[in-house]
Amino acid sequence: MSTILSVQGSPRGERSHSRRLQEAFLKAWQARGEGRQVLRREVGRVAIAPVTEGWIAAAFHPENEERSEVMKADLALSDRLVDELLASDRLVISAPMYNFGVPSGVKAWVDQVMRVRRTFGMDLSNPANPYTPLVLGRKALIITTRGDHGYGPGGANAHMNHADPYLRLVLGHMGITDVTVVAVEDDEFGGEGFQQSYQRAERALADLAETF
Ligand SMILES: Cc1cc2nc3c(=O)[nH]c(=O)nc-3n(C[C@H](O)[C@H](O)[C@H](O)COP(=O)(O)O)c2cc1C
Repeated sequence: MSTILSVQGSPRGERSHSRRLQEAFLKAWQARGEGRQVLRREVGRVAIAPVTEGWIAAAFHPENEERSEVMKADLALSDRLVDELLASDRLVISAPMYNFGVPSGVKAWVDQVMRVRRTFGMDLSNPANPYTPLVLGRKALIITTRGDHGYGPGGANAHMNHADPYLRLVLGHMGITDVTVVAVEDDEFGGEGFQQSYQRAERALADLAETF
């Protein structure tokens, strides 16, 4: 039995390349065996609440003191999103590049699931090594789409890419270090370059559906 948590980050519906590629991947992956489940979390087309002052106070409330009802309510969405992450053994995130980073819904989801004592431990008495990852034994796939090109490793614009490297960083902080990135470039330019990039991604995802 295996469960993918599917996080869809594009505000676009059928026009979205990252959404379409993820849907094809999930279908191919589910067709590979029995008991393969997909847990869906939409973050592109519905608003995910940002972290608030109440959220911060509740999340960092001392471990040995019970949280008030207000605090519990402040953390309700975060708890639900963390529960979804922990209930899955695989994670697929679709994240178009927006202004060199990820869309705000994806960022809001990250802020909600990066939870002290739930997804990472923090020990300030150990400044040399204060963090302990708590989400272990999982793998992740990031499907990212970009209007321009050259953002991949070694590319001319790699230094401007704060989308998939950022996701790799935060996933690693929680303990998810087995991360594959599949990217499509040139959406804004279209033409042959985009077609080739899209087809390469389709092939990479079809191969990955066998082994993920
Ligand atoms: C608000 C916005 C910001 C964008 N910023 C960038 C960017 O910084 N770099 C880039 O290469 N493309 C950028 N794009 C283009 C998208 O990354 C590209 O169209 C992508 O394919 C959209 O993904 P989707 O098809 O899954 O919706 C931006 C698009 C939008 C709408």
